[in-house]
Amino acid sequence: MNRATTDLPELVRSVVDSHRHLRGPLLVVLREIQDRLGYIDPDVVPLVAAELNLSRADVHGVVTFYRDFRSEPPGRKTLRICRAEACQAMGSELLVNALEQALGIKVGQTTTDGSTTLDQVFCLGNCALGPAAQIDGRLYGRLDRDQVIDIVRTGRS
Ligand code: FES
Repeated sequence: MNRATTDLPELVRSVVDSHRHLRGPLLVVLREIQDRLGYIDPDVVPLVAAELNLSRADVHGVVTFYRDFRSEPPGRKTLRICRAEACQAMGSELLVNALEQALGIKVGQTTTDGSTTLDQVFCLGNCALGPAAQIDGRLYGRLDRDQVIDIVRTGRS
């Protein structure tokens, strides 16, 4: 779904309507909006607040508290490298350094051409196969620098 062609008030209304029956639907609503839009556009915050009768600060606080919510569009490919203890012990910091160098960005940024977003995560539940990463939603384990760089360069995942 493209932000430029999306009717945000209509999107928010339809998502909220489908979850309004839930007790405390804010997280579910935000997740679905992000699934559909790719991120939580700042213009969504007051719309969700109004629909759920919450303050803008309530909604903004949730969006900025949880690392899985993005306030900017992601790149076409998203790499999430695990930096928790088990993966650190298996060299995830070397992967992070190699990726930052290869992509010319830091963790949390998107390349200027919009091709790739580099993110971090703290445990993917794949600790025995570290270093682990999630690339476009697909879980990888026992990654090494060359594999990750190859995935970035070739677009294979
Ligand atoms: S510590 Fe990396 S997957 Fe658990």
